[in-house]
Amino acid sequence: MYTRTLLCLLPLICLNGVLSKGRVRKFPPNFLFGASTAAYQIEGGWNEDGKGQSIWDVATHQRPTPIKDGSTGDIAADSYHMYKRDVAMMAELGLDFYRFSISWPRILPNGFADKVNQAGVDYYLNLIEEMEKRNITPFATMYHWDLPQNLQKLGGWTNPHIIDWFADYAKILFDRIGPKVKLWITINEPKQICYEGYGSDAKAPFLNATGIAEYLCAKNVLLAHAKAYRLYNEHYKKIQNGSVGISISCTWYEAASDSNDDFHAAEDARMFDWGQFAHPIFSKAGDFPEQVRRNVASKSAEQGFPRSRLPKLSTKDVATIKGTSDFFGVNTYTTKLAYRDASLDGMYAVPSYMDDMSAVLVKDPTWPQSQSSWLQEVPWGFTKVLKEIKKLYNNPPVYVTENGWSSDGGLLDDDRISYLRHYLGALLDAYSEGCDIRGYTAWSLMDNFEWKSGYTEKFGLYEVDFSSPDRTRTPRKSAFVYKEVIRSRKMDPNYEPNYVVETVEHGTKDDDDNDVF
Ligand SMILES: *[C@@H]1O[C@H](CO)[C@@H](O)[C@H](O)[C@H]1NC(C)=O
Ligand SMILES: *[C@@H]1O[C@H](CO)[C@@H](O)[C@H](O)[C@H]1NC(C)=O
Repeated sequence: MYTRTLLCLLPLICLNGVLSKGRVRKFPPNFLFGASTAAYQIEGGWNEDGKGQSIWDVATHQRPTPIKDGSTGDIAADSYHMYKRDVAMMAELGLDFYRFSISWPRILPNGFADKVNQAGVDYYLNLIEEMEKRNITPFATMYHWDLPQNLQKLGGWTNPHIIDWFADYAKILFDRIGPKVKLWITINEPKQICYEGYGSDAKAPFLNATGIAEYLCAKNVLLAHAKAYRLYNEHYKKIQNGSVGISISCTWYEAASDSNDDFHAAEDARMFDWGQFAHPIFSKAGDFPEQVRRNVASKSAEQGFPRSRLPKLSTKDVATIKGTSDFFGVNTYTTKLAYRDASLDGMYAVPSYMDDMSAVLVKDPTWPQSQSSWLQEVPWGFTKVLKEIKKLYNNPPVYVTENGWSSDGGLLDDDRISYLRHYLGALLDAYSEGCDIRGYTAWSLMDNFEWKSGYTEKFGLYEVDFSSPDRTRTPRKSAFVYKEVIRSRKMDPNYEPNYVVETVEHGTKDDDDNDVF
């Protein structure tokens, strides 16, 4: 503090060091920091020790391949074998918690609860035990997209019986892993599951039944989540004392102009994108948002459907789903501009989710661009997402359960550092406006299989060498920046780790020249 004050007496340094880069900002007491991964993206071991096949095993083994670089998650970062190294990395960073997902077909190879694969259960118990030794809290996601193929054969998330199948799976997790877990996410990103997997061809199972299947899925996902939540609340909470929530991906959509049309286009985009899942759980009234019900119903009628393609939630369904989350898990990465005009005619397939939304969603070319086409750095959009959640849903406790940046590789990741600093600043802005934010989770602990993009987009604080049989993990510069944030519980925009990338990259890393873990 003393040094900083002194420096600021010198106008030039003060301008340069403080005004241009911002001030040091403190995180609230008890704020938690973590990092996140998902089973299919890191584990590998795709057919080991009795694991069943998931829809991603099937998708990546398909020929011609739907994956950009033709790769698979058969080995991925090999965390099925390397989990002790993963936990060492968590300790190096000083994480309070680690958010990982449990592979449904590793626990239940058939998808059904007829047969539990004990080796699969043991893998997660061993991981958690290793974390306990280092005082790192497990934050477990039950479903992060690797649906057992057996259930997909029966329609997967479009079959209402999945509500029971998911609750059966949840019961096994609560019984066998629940004694060790206090923080649960039921389902990761319903919109991506439903729209990308069933209502388009962006994610497995690539059903592409546009305008139909994403809405069947939405109802089933919400009821499956609610059933698992209620099971825990009624039978496990008193004994296990944990919290159960859901992670919803929330992109901010900003009106492209101040016209009334664009204002409504942006609002409809937010309601289709995340209100569709957040409203039924977190709003006072429950049910799907009015905009979504109205748009899908009127388009369906115009198109000659005898009823809305959005299935109705009965009064009982609404009551079952409402209030079933102890916190709001926010996955958020970016912002898009939304507008509505005549150019919409013929732009989207009919029927489809995008046609129902009736908004054009575009990027602003002036915003910093990551390696992922959809991801740009727009920190103020993060603040707006958090403030909107506070406003719409009566300020629920929020964990940011994913946030991060992709590059094309390399250890010197100043673009990721810039993103991290600006987004943490944006989070603190929302906090100072009263948003009840309890924790932040960086995506991702390490490079991993980025779905249809294969290994072409790197999100890791740690680089993974996918060409090495050891899947060597090396901390990027951003890992040291995040470590310092966690250590100091402060965001210091001027903090520069002593990180010499050339020596690291040429394999002659001299520990004396670098910050070391
Ligand atoms: C998915 O459906 C849309 C709309 O019907 C169509 O334009 C597109 O070609 C389909 N994609 C595939 C891979 O079949
Ligand atoms: C549950 O949590 C409360 C509050 O943190 C604590 O007082 C209680 O002892 C806990 N119960 C169990 C069984 O761990």
